[in-house]
Order: sequence, then structure tokens, then C-alpha cells
Amino acid sequence: MMAISVNSDIPRLVMFRCFVLFANVFVAAGAPWIYPYAPDVGPDKSDPFPVFPDSFAFGASTSAYQIEGGWLSGGKGFSIWDAFSHIPGNIANGDTGDVAIDHYNRFHEDVLLLQRFGVKHYRFSIAWTRIMPTGVEPVNEQGVKFYNDLINALIDAGITPYVTLFHSDMPLALQLRNGNAFLLPDFPKLFSDYARVVFRSFGDRVKTWFTFNEPWCSAVLGTSGGEVPYQIAHSILLAHAEAVAVYRSEFKSQLGAVGIVLNTAHFFPGSTHAEDVASALRSYDFNFNWFAQPIYGGGDYPDVMRRSLGQRLPTFTAEQRKKLNGSADFIAINIYSASINSPGTTPFPDPSPTFWSDINVTSATLSSWPTSDMGWAIVPEGMRGLLRYLSSMYKYPIYITENGVALQETSVESAVNDTSRSQFIHDHIKELGKALTVDNVDVRGYFVWSIFDNLEWGSGFTKKFGMVHVDHSTLDRTPKHSLYWYKSLIDGDDFVL
Ligand code: NOJ
Repeated sequence: MMAISVNSDIPRLVMFRCFVLFANVFVAAGAPWIYPYAPDVGPDKSDPFPVFPDSFAFGASTSAYQIEGGWLSGGKGFSIWDAFSHIPGNIANGDTGDVAIDHYNRFHEDVLLLQRFGVKHYRFSIAWTRIMPTGVEPVNEQGVKFYNDLINALIDAGITPYVTLFHSDMPLALQLRNGNAFLLPDFPKLFSDYARVVFRSFGDRVKTWFTFNEPWCSAVLGTSGGEVPYQIAHSILLAHAEAVAVYRSEFKSQLGAVGIVLNTAHFFPGSTHAEDVASALRSYDFNFNWFAQPIYGGGDYPDVMRRSLGQRLPTFTAEQRKKLNGSADFIAINIYSASINSPGTTPFPDPSPTFWSDINVTSATLSSWPTSDMGWAIVPEGMRGLLRYLSSMYKYPIYITENGVALQETSVESAVNDTSRSQFIHDHIKELGKALTVDNVDVRGYFVWSIFDNLEWGSGFTKKFGMVHVDHSTLDRTPKHSLYWYKSLIDGDDFVL
């Protein structure tokens, strides 16, 4: 234990305490958006529901592998998920996306359902393997036709398409080249060649593009530690920048917007103390600014990451930084939850670092927070915290491209009674509305995940996120309470639950 010598150390300790106090006040003043969680920042049921401008986009999201099915139809090639799902034990109940919810064959019916419920903004993804079965030319015209038909049906129904180019379903043929296609040296070229075909085929009608969905997940989940997550992220960022450069140089006349979908929770500090605030910021840096800062904040990774990771964090050339900086027209975020952050306990030096020991933050939740069927904490006020954080960091319009909740629904009767999903969406939109109307955050759209129950990756069909129940034997669609409520919100009739 350290001995304190009265004469010399007490003044130093006092000075240290003063410094900490000063630092706390300074940090809180410099980051007014970052306040610790307190009950009085929670949703206030008595507030009036915010008024949204007519231009605000209320929509819903899906992704190809999770809904399409038709895995052997129309000349489609195999994706890594086709292969992975066929290995016993990988997906709950042995589920696969072979049929999924058969959107491939039922998209007309699905578009009519969106239309009937007034959902005028629809985000979906294109399966690379339908357009290019092996990931490279030649182009599969039947795959192009499928998306042409879908996009035309949406537009005929008065629904605006928002399209993601890559939502986890990497062409298997590319993956087999080296075991992880993101790490192929020419991945940025492969991806931008595919993107070019997509822009050329559909860009006359699609005006909002997302290059990648949740690159954080591709980099961190299911990968090893060391430098691998950072190399994958680096490659995805370069591929994103390359595709955006193709779009902006070759398809300028299409007058569309392009971005990338990033995922993050909101990170509350455990208290106003400097070390807790620093932990919340560190969580934002490692989880979000890792991707956001190169794109929206100057072309390079956060300093905190560089200092912590040293050589393990790849470097961009000056030319790459230039290409990355500003390579999106908006910020697009998937948010599902929030956490409370304080310093971590990783020993230094860590002999075998992982992404989590690199962050070295303890992220906790409160026992008073309810949880979804995924076990994720439900914290609507995190939505407002996140939006305030984003607008304090970057001056770009913001879209919430996914937000939603998995509920335990064991029968169609329990599913259609999903009032707690209606409540979840209501509370999150209300917090978003406060960020828009009270905090003046430039947020332009909100998309529910998801319109349909679908294949929740490794959880198969056991996790229900949809506003529409899908029966897995008949594939019948049944709208739930939440979709009726969402319609009334969109129509401006009734916000009350
Ligand atoms: C984000 C992903 O984009 C989507 O594919 C997934 O189903 C939802 N989160 C829910 O986990």
C-alpha cells in the first residue's frame, strides 16, 4: 500500500482532487448531451406526442436473406448464410432461409400489405448472389428482373424504396477464396463492381442507397481477436468509399443520396465523474466512431483507438482518407438498446487482446429496465441521448434505419396482441420526436425493424420482431396490433395507446 507523507503528499492529493473536480465540470460542460441515466430523463407519459413534419419518413426495414427464401430460384448463387444455415447446429431448430417467409414469391402481396397500412418508406436489401451468383460478372438477368419487379411494385404502390447493397449475405464463392472475403485485397474493387451494376440497374428509381449494413457486426461478431476485427472494418470502409466514389462519379445524374448503416447503442456514463464520462465516450469511439469518424469526421480513426491499439489498427493513406471523408450524404443508424458505462478491468498489458478487452469498458444495464426476448434492455430515452450525441458530433441529416423489439409470441393469438411492441415503438418515436422538436436534431426518418417476422440469423424463427405475424407452415401473413397502431401514427390520427 502507498504510504502518505503528511508534509509533501497531502497538498498533492488535494490538488489531484481539485483536478478531478475540475475535469468533471469541464467534461460535463463540454459534452452537454452526455448525462448519466436518471429516472427523470425517462419517457414522460404526460408530455404531448411531438408533431412531426409531413416530410418525416416513417418506414419499415427488412433484409434479403431474412425474408426472401427462393434460395435456388432465378439463377441465384449461394451466400455464406446458405452454407452456414445448412450445417446442423448452427441455427436454432435447424431453421434456414431456404424459404424464409417466401417473399421472393409473395412480394406483390407484401407490397400491398405495406400500402394498406400506409407504410410509404420501405428499406430492403439486395442479395449480391442474385445479381452476381459468384460475386463477379456475369450478371444474372433473372436476379435483376426480380428486383426490378419489386421496385416497380413499390413505386406503383406509392412506396419509396431505400436499398441496402450488403446485409450479411456474402457470396460463398468469394468467401471460399480465402476464408473471409472482407480480407481479400481486392474486396473494395469486387464490392464496387457489384455496386456499379446495382446503381446502373435500379438507380433511375432508387434514390437512397446504403452500402453496408452494420459493419461493426461483420468485424466483431464471430471473428477472432487480435487485429482481425480492425482489418475487416478497414476493408469495409475502403469498399464503402470506393462504391460511393463510383456512385458519385458515374451516376451523378441519378441525383440520389448514399450512405452506410451503422449500429450503436446509446452509452450513458455511470455518473458525471470524468472516468465514467470517458468510458461512455470510449464506448462510442470503439463501437461507432470507429466507422463514423473516417466517414463524417475527417477520414481517420478516433485518436483513442490509435493510442490503444497502436500497430493493430491499420492506417489509411492520404488518398484513402480523402476518399473516405464525406463519403456519405447522411448518417443512418440501427439502435435497439442502451447501457451504462464505467471503466473496465482488463489487465495491462493484455496478453491476448480481443475487441472487448480493447474497449475495456464495463457496460451494464439497470435491473429496472425491461428486456426484450433477445435479452436487450428497453430504454427509449437512449434514442434521444443518441440523437443528441450524433448531432453534437457530426453535421449530417440522420435516419434511424432500424429500431424494434423481439417479443415472445407463441401463437398467432398472442402475436396479434403485441401491445408491448406498439408501446416500444411509441416510446422510441416519442423520444426521437423530442430530439427533433426540442433539441433541434436534424432527424429525417424512422424505420421499424421489422415489418414481418423473419429469420433472426442464428436464432432462426424463434425471435419475433415483426409487425406482421407469419405462419411458418402456411406462410399466411397476419397484421399485429403494432401495425394498426403504426398506421394510425402515420395517418396522424391517433398517437395514444
Ligand atoms: C440488425 C440487423 O440489421 C438485422 O438483420 C437484425 O435482424 C436486427 N438487427 C435484429 O437483431
